[in-house]
Amino acid sequence: MKNPSCILTVNLDERSYPIYIGTNLLADREVYQPHIHGQQVLIVTNTTVAPLYLASVESALQEYQVESVILPDGEQFKTLSVWQTIIDALLEHRFDRRCTVIGLGGGVVGDMAGFAAACYQRGVYFIQVPTTLLAQVDSSVGGKTGVNHPLGKNMIGAFYQPQCVIADIDTLSTLDDRQLSAGLAEIIKYGLIGDPDFFCWLEQKMDGLLEREHALLAYAIERSCKDKAAVVAADEREAGNRALLNLGHTFGHAIETGVGYGEWLHGEAVGAGICMAADLSRRLGWLDDSDQRRIESLIKKAGLPVYPPESLDADRMLALMSVDKKVLESKIRLILMNKLGYSVVTDTFEPEALKETLNEYGRATS
Ligand code: NAD
Ligand code: GLY
Repeated sequence: MKNPSCILTVNLDERSYPIYIGTNLLADREVYQPHIHGQQVLIVTNTTVAPLYLASVESALQEYQVESVILPDGEQFKTLSVWQTIIDALLEHRFDRRCTVIGLGGGVVGDMAGFAAACYQRGVYFIQVPTTLLAQVDSSVGGKTGVNHPLGKNMIGAFYQPQCVIADIDTLSTLDDRQLSAGLAEIIKYGLIGDPDFFCWLEQKMDGLLEREHALLAYAIERSCKDKAAVVAADEREAGNRALLNLGHTFGHAIETGVGYGEWLHGEAVGAGICMAADLSRRLGWLDDSDQRRIESLIKKAGLPVYPPESLDADRMLALMSVDKKVLESKIRLILMNKLGYSVVTDTFEPEALKETLNEYGRATS
């Protein structure tokens, strides 16, 4: 193996797996080889990523029977019907239960490929090869897989851990600036759910990250994956604190569903969602004014929106927020900040305070 610059482990007993982070990993057969058990490999990718990176991955897998499925590109295609084309391909090529599914792409491809691996013959091997910043720091790690339903984001899915994650930082060179910013939203999230030093580091290094300085990106990816791996190892199936990884997401998912999947990027919706969570935390007296300003200013600096789209008023946001996997016994549960760098999962906030935040942000524009 050509030296990944970093190998982390997600510790989940017999389902533990490595995250390889580095450069020149995509075409390195030695990275894949220990994690492929049968002879058949299906690469799931999309129309944007295939021309960029499919040949490199195929070149690493010449000793196997390799087939590919190229999905249409976009969050609006993260549906059960598009997902079924992956299952169709596995069946058409007569793949057996020792086959391996590789998800090559961003979070949409990774979530769909993982869900196909979880369901095909009740579970086959799966490898994540994330190619967006967001996927490298978040969606490829932790085993959440699935698709959207028209009424709610990620409402159909399974927990299904990969054999390994191969994050090749070189792939980020073809990512556009808007997608880079979307990944930064999830990175900022880690600084706010238990890693205040990382939040301060991000305040100092944001300019360099936006300029894609390699060492800074590598450090941000490693630290994010380390933070996420620790949360997942402690609570794989989100019985408790894994929900912290959803900071900003209840607001964000409402935005994504409300404007139509694919209009706002997931990371953009999370960026505005984090600002709304900070506003509500401040209204509850849990966060200082100055801390709220620091959070908003970092989100802005990362090139992310602070406010939801004008088309979503407070009532519509509230209705959308009630279709969320964290809702229990009809109560909305949110991730709120109780100190800069620390968050809690809670349903003990005054509904009036939430309405004030929604009204305030529903009126404002970026
Ligand atoms: P995405 O998968 O839509 O990718 C963004 C865009 O970048 C797409 O157009 C894609 O084709 C393109 N792309 C991918 N790699 C590229 C590259 N190297 N160069 C150029 N273009 C490239 O979006 P995303 O932000 O990666 O992921 C968002 C999805 O991830 C959402 O569906 C979200 O729900 C999901 N998600 C899942 C988890 C999880 O734990 N499973 C966590 C966070 C987000
Ligand atoms: N991105 C949320 C989680 O993995 O739990």
